Amino acid sequence: MAVDLLLGLQWGDEGKGKIVDVLTKNYDIIARFQGGPNAGHTLEFDGIKHVLRTIPSGIFHKNNVNLIGNGVVIDPVVFVKELEGLDQYQIDYKKNLLISRKAHLILPTHRLLDAASEASKGKAKIGSTLKGIGPTYMDKTGRNGIRVGDLEFDNWEEKYRALADKHEAMIGFYNVNIEYDLADLEAEFFSAIEILKTLTFIDSEEYIAQAQKDGKTILAEGAQGSLLDIDFGTYPFVTSSNTTAAGACTGLGVAPNKVNGVFGIFKAYTTRVGSGPFPTELFDDVGATMAKVGNEFGAVTGRPRRCGWLDLVALRYAVQINGVTELIMMKADVLSGFEKIKVCTAYNYNGKNVEHLPYSIDAAHITPVYIELEGWNDDLAGITNETDLPKALNDYISFIENELQIPITIVSVGPDRTQTIHRNSR
Ligand code: IMP
Repeated sequence: MAVDLLLGLQWGDEGKGKIVDVLTKNYDIIARFQGGPNAGHTLEFDGIKHVLRTIPSGIFHKNNVNLIGNGVVIDPVVFVKELEGLDQYQIDYKKNLLISRKAHLILPTHRLLDAASEASKGKAKIGSTLKGIGPTYMDKTGRNGIRVGDLEFDNWEEKYRALADKHEAMIGFYNVNIEYDLADLEAEFFSAIEILKTLTFIDSEEYIAQAQKDGKTILAEGAQGSLLDIDFGTYPFVTSSNTTAAGACTGLGVAPNKVNGVFGIFKAYTTRVGSGPFPTELFDDVGATMAKVGNEFGAVTGRPRRCGWLDLVALRYAVQINGVTELIMMKADVLSGFEKIKVCTAYNYNGKNVEHLPYSIDAAHITPVYIELEGWNDDLAGITNETDLPKALNDYISFIENELQIPITIVSVGPDRTQTIHRNSR
């Protein structure tokens, strides 16, 4: 069986957790392939709200296997807290949650290095979630990292000590004031490692290959979004992994010709958390209303998210890079009440209108070109059928489909599992 991918097409926070949870019933295995606890995947059902960080969003369905792939970076301390948060749900982790031996570990000193690096950048800071993601991927590509599989060998603590000592020396080089007590952090880290070791570690690429041979259905769950991709995002204001479709191949060991559906998820508007260019960002009451109605605060850091109109130039780019086959539109309900809805269809780049994403999308180089569509006033929260959607929203959906030439198969009208409209007419 081929693997389906679910990916964020903007700057993250599109609502991947909710949709993975909704789609899980169609799959045997849900597999995360990149990122780490910088992600906060929010799920709401039965009056409960739950934020997952490293664990795939299929975990609440008892019949699925959830796999943390080799492309993910795991902070044992955060991971154990995540497990504790799930205690009340009687999940059989030994069976339902598998971890790739090739996934890299985030050490306490990776978090400290992240903090030192950001502090040293001053105003040019990335706006990192400070979870140690960048330094951990640096050690991975620098071939210094410690992997989950190392925990099965006796000498891993020697490797740990050498690496942590090196990190401490590096923190010194940044010449910034970072206060920490490494002994405390290490006590917490080593006790979390003992809990991590009680879980099932596997050769995940082998497991996935076998599952495919056995006809099992697999959904690969992305984290962050395409514009935060280390290669194709708004560098350097990006995360440190490939968040795009190719990342699912390297982050799970899935061959490109074994990828089937690519589900691209986007909000009906745009948000961004952290620094970096954002062409359609709004600094007025409209942006403030989107933030308020959409409850746009980071699930991991609580930081307010920047808000703006839908950017079709950026979305077209993400659709192309990922080979998106179906689109999923989130938070349509948040746009209810605006008299007019604007959509950016092109950028004016050095005096010329362009429809592709140029090398720099800094405000100094581009100005967004908008068209205006009619808004709608209806409260969408209780709508469960596509035929009940307001005409203006249907027109908005058709406009986007037409521009991108990809069908929108799901429209989400609220955070709960039940507030999900499948567009069967598509
Ligand atoms: P880092 O990956 O934590 O180093 O953060 C790098 C950039 O990616 C920052 O702008 C973060 O705000 C952003 N970022 C990282 N993870 C997420 C996410 O899950 N959602 C949205 N933005 C994220």
